[in-house]
Amino acid sequence: MPEEVIVVRESKNLTGTVQISGAKNSALKLIAASILGQGESIIHNVPLISDIDIMCRVLERLGATVVREGHALRVDTTNVADKETPYELVSKMRASISALGPMVARFGHARMAMPGGCQIGARKIDMHLVGMSVLGVKFSVDHGFLEASAPNGLHGGEIMLEFASVGATENTMMTAVVAEGHTIIENAAREPEIVDLANMLNAMGCKVQGAGNSTIEIEGVPLSSLHPCEHTTVGDRIEAGTFLVGGALMGGPLRVEGINPSFLRMAIIKLKQMGCTVSTGDNWIEVSREGELKPTDIQTLPHPGFPTDLQAQFMLLCSLAKGSSLVTENVFENRFMFAEELMRMGADVNLEGHHAVVEGVDKLMGAPVSCSDLRAGAALVLAGVAAEGETVVHDIYHIDRGYEDYVGKLQSLGADVKRVKVGHSDVWR
Ligand code: EPZ
Repeated sequence: MPEEVIVVRESKNLTGTVQISGAKNSALKLIAASILGQGESIIHNVPLISDIDIMCRVLERLGATVVREGHALRVDTTNVADKETPYELVSKMRASISALGPMVARFGHARMAMPGGCQIGARKIDMHLVGMSVLGVKFSVDHGFLEASAPNGLHGGEIMLEFASVGATENTMMTAVVAEGHTIIENAAREPEIVDLANMLNAMGCKVQGAGNSTIEIEGVPLSSLHPCEHTTVGDRIEAGTFLVGGALMGGPLRVEGINPSFLRMAIIKLKQMGCTVSTGDNWIEVSREGELKPTDIQTLPHPGFPTDLQAQFMLLCSLAKGSSLVTENVFENRFMFAEELMRMGADVNLEGHHAVVEGVDKLMGAPVSCSDLRAGAALVLAGVAAEGETVVHDIYHIDRGYEDYVGKLQSLGADVKRVKVGHSDVWR
């Protein structure tokens, strides 16, 4: 079967304004949450990406009707039934697990294929299960399927997450909203997408307080009191951060619009440390750079710490900085595959466990490279914009999972980049 690749050549600059799409890592959960409001919810600012398509198929498989109208989704969950979420969908996108909480909340039961790991790590769900167990959910595993039930109903409780897991916070929240009594989630994830989900849940009639802080408090309400709603997804801070790195890399000025700058405070601090000028408005951020890139140290952490989803993009910046940078990946156990591809383009990176020592070089060289995950893929394309010659990026389906029209947006900023269908004979590997 012919493969589609991204061919990118050294470009003069990345400059201009780009509209940021809705956040993939929020919209996926908002779609799942619509299971709780038995009727038609409308979700705006939903990105046109393949992960969303898969989540829509999950909902349809469960009995929902989903209609896409541009960047809006009409999700009617009236006829959702207590059905199995099949392996062929969960294996394509582990975020399908976000349907677990809403299904247990609505039916007191759920049967879902266990999500597998992926290139960046085991992606376990033990904390999801521990959190939901406190609320009365019992779990068993049967031939690769997770069976969840609440034989004595759902009741509030006190949950202390071992790690501020985004997914565990979300599933626990979406179960607790109908659990009788009061629930406290401590060491909750604080990502902006958690706040977005809580806002939609509250618009459906839930009582969630404290989202965005480490302690979230929930007052359970009857399922019958919940109703559909209309909600607009927040902007995608990781897409925005990816383009800002492009502007920092090439000089800019580059402006991202449709993003709340407070979502990227740590990334902005790091861009400034690396010699960039950054200005912000209510819903935009602009970056430019005149002087040379300066080295910095990056520690990925749960929000508001430095986002792991921008680690590859900033490692690229560090690879061209004048000096030595230390990148430490604390969130996932195996998220340095990007470094191995970057080294093929001439970067000087030494990997030591979850540390990467990056010595800046003067120039990267174009090469055939392959995406290991969507963020690494996006960073490889940016590397090709800066590198001498031509870079051919393979396995670009990773990028299409989370970036809407990435090539088109880069072209609008002046990148020499295009998508090309190649037959097997032309493969550059
Ligand atoms: C979400 O994944 C995002 N995905 C990830 O974005 C993001 O990198 C991650 O949060 C951290 O911000 C979506 O929202 C769809 P976690 P999630 O639970 O929820 C371990 C991207 O590029 N863990 O916070 O899976 C886990 O293995 C993707 O858009 C357990 O051990 O992240 C990981 O090492 C990549 N047990 C760490 O915690 C659990 O029960 C963080 O996981 C849950 C998690």
